Amino acid sequence: MINGEQGARGMMLEVMDSEQQEKIKSNTPCYVFDERHFYETIRQLRDECGQGVNICFSIKSNPWLAPYIEHYVDQVEVCSEGELELCERAGINMGCILAGGVSKSLRELVHMIRAGVGMISIESRLQLELLEQACRQEESSCRCLLRVSSGNQFGMPIKEIKKILSERKETSLVRFAGLHYYSGTQKRSANEILKEMDALETFADEIGSCFDKQPFIMEYGPGIGYPYFITDKKEYHREIIRTISKRCSRWAEKYHFVFEAGRICASEAGDYITKVVDIKRNEGKLFYIVDGGCHQLKYYNQSNGYRIPYFDVIHIEKRTRGKAAATVNGSLCTAGDVLMRDAELEECDIGDLFVFHNVGAYSSTEAMALFLSRKYPGIFVWEQNRELKQIFQGRVLL
Ligand SMILES: Cc1ncc(COP(=O)(O)O)c(C=O)c1O
Repeated sequence: MINGEQGARGMMLEVMDSEQQEKIKSNTPCYVFDERHFYETIRQLRDECGQGVNICFSIKSNPWLAPYIEHYVDQVEVCSEGELELCERAGINMGCILAGGVSKSLRELVHMIRAGVGMISIESRLQLELLEQACRQEESSCRCLLRVSSGNQFGMPIKEIKKILSERKETSLVRFAGLHYYSGTQKRSANEILKEMDALETFADEIGSCFDKQPFIMEYGPGIGYPYFITDKKEYHREIIRTISKRCSRWAEKYHFVFEAGRICASEAGDYITKVVDIKRNEGKLFYIVDGGCHQLKYYNQSNGYRIPYFDVIHIEKRTRGKAAATVNGSLCTAGDVLMRDAELEECDIGDLFVFHNVGAYSSTEAMALFLSRKYPGIFVWEQNRELKQIFQGRVLL
């Protein structure tokens, strides 16, 4: 039985077989990622961006999917040695890796070169010097992208990039292959993205000939947002993709264009499932206490449970139920553990399940999972062939 607001995907638990449903019900709290939906999202993104656009998945948005992604994307962006190791463990072709990170150490750069990563993103002159040193140490050349800053701590100002290009030496083992740009996430405006693309294109046109190898690589992460809350404009992310798609197609003709994204690839492909373990009325207010909590559920821009995300409730017992406003709290010992505040819900019983949708990106790693030494949730992947695989048992204690 369902009484929430379904997201675009509907509810995967509802269409699983009964054995799979039981497995999940008896393993709450847990995340379930849907490989098939992830693949469909990438396929749709590819169709909308047009032919020739290379899709790069930013693995930070869902590192659990590392063993699944290689077949679906052209490139994988990693931004830490840990993410690189995950990709190595998953057997991902290292030629498909763009390795970034604002403070890569010499040792990490050596690791990247030894692993044979396809490209390394360079964020400062010091990083470039360290990369040169790593290349000399390993007697190996490597391709790099110069990351353009959007004004924050990442990347370099245009002036600095021009200077670096003008000083480049033929003997250098570092090959400049193109530009990298990412200014931030959860953007809701296609115009903001198009403006960035305009500026980047103007700069690339000005300096393109200074790069070593044609075609010039333009790696751009637009940071398109996702509508997590029922008050958000439905499907606005799709509208943004449609609006910028012409530009993407044009860039694919002009550059080796790589479209870098995490949130819009993975958000829809995940649910977080948590069970009602207590029900109480305090001073006339109805509270459902669940076995998970806000340390495991993170929606960008959630504000203390005031915004209602897409969710469903599975009632264990079928009966007629009235509706009432209720607050859903997790099991942490902090008053801030509020998943939804004053949500209009059908009455719940102990054992009923809350299914929070669209948590396939970031939530499983960005929430403060180990806060108060709670157990980390189990991780399930509902695979392409509709097998349900538990890839993590769900237990990390400090
Ligand atoms: C360099 C870089 N590229 C891509 C991404 C993915 O961004 P999004 O999830 O907004 O698509 C991030 C996210 O932080 C990033 O830092």
